[in-house]
Amino acid sequence: MKKALITGITGQDGAYLAKFLLDRNYKVFGLAPRRSTASYSNLKFLNVKDDVRLLYGDVTDIGSLKSAIEISCPDEIYNLAAMSFVGASWDLPICSANVNGIGVLNILECIKHLNKDIKFYQAGTSEMFGSSINSDGFQNETTAFHPRSPYGVSKVFAHNLVRNYRESFGIFACNGILFNHESPLRGKEFVTRKITDSIARILLGKQDKIELGNLDTHRDWGFAGDYVKAMWLMLQHDTPDDYVVATGKTNSIRYFLEKSFEAAGLDSYDRYIIQNPKYFRPAEVNVLKGDYSKANNVLNWQPETTLDELIIKMVSCDIERVKNEI
Ligand code: GDD
Repeated sequence: MKKALITGITGQDGAYLAKFLLDRNYKVFGLAPRRSTASYSNLKFLNVKDDVRLLYGDVTDIGSLKSAIEISCPDEIYNLAAMSFVGASWDLPICSANVNGIGVLNILECIKHLNKDIKFYQAGTSEMFGSSINSDGFQNETTAFHPRSPYGVSKVFAHNLVRNYRESFGIFACNGILFNHESPLRGKEFVTRKITDSIARILLGKQDKIELGNLDTHRDWGFAGDYVKAMWLMLQHDTPDDYVVATGKTNSIRYFLEKSFEAAGLDSYDRYIIQNPKYFRPAEVNVLKGDYSKANNVLNWQPETTLDELIIKMVSCDIERVKNEI
């Protein structure tokens, strides 16, 4: 039986990946921070909370990492732990650098010293491209990085570390360059879930308006459940490498709003939206559109869920959730 250690297991991707690996008969360990109010709602939502073994620790605390690796003896480590909210990274730049940058270095150092056969997946991001885009309008593995937030900068540091440890020490380490991926488990601070949760509240008379920032940015949105498969495929391939994981389609926040309101059976979104400057960012990434042909050709991966299907799923899930709130 293969063993995997997932950092950030309590997040959206952590829960989907845990389920994916359990379904493939893995023994799954998860590194989880010890907080006064622990949240296992994502693991519970997917009915996997009791099937994973949680180990308390943090990627910024190398002693706890070392101990988690010694206890779990993993064949594969998936690093999904991150300060992942771009908007907050201007308020928490040092925390972002510590968790998203030094945290990755800590894991790589542990692998180097404890067991160089452990395969490693690093959750990279399209935010590393920032304002950089190829002449054909896509971003792929050859696109230069020009991050636009402390979050993006910290992820570029991690990306380069992974490559360097692969080249220097022969560690099987891969960077997934994942474009935005959403689901009913998405945190409400992210725009998609903020919209679908608010729509459910408007429909059920619990909220009147949605306050948002920039509605003209474009994102390449996929379904998180599809994307965890790509993470796993990277570690099953013969050689370690870096891959873009995306849908190849881009849409604006306005499009997401329009389709979400439509899915809830509400008319035009205009009268429900207030644009608040506090949700605008000091520097913005205007367009993300990923070319996933390398992942398709080498790993035989492709997205399976369309954005319209994803929107319907998120809206209906939030309506049920809000209905059942006490
Ligand atoms: N969060 C948020 N809240 N974003 C808003 C709002 C709002 O009220 N109004 C407009 N937006 C715009 C943001 O300015 C941004 O252009 C876009 O909506 C998407 O924002 P997020 O949903 O917060 O996601 P993100 O694109 O910044 O980052 C996500 O995707 C990255 C991959 O590209 C996160 O999941 C990152 O962790 C991930 O790396």
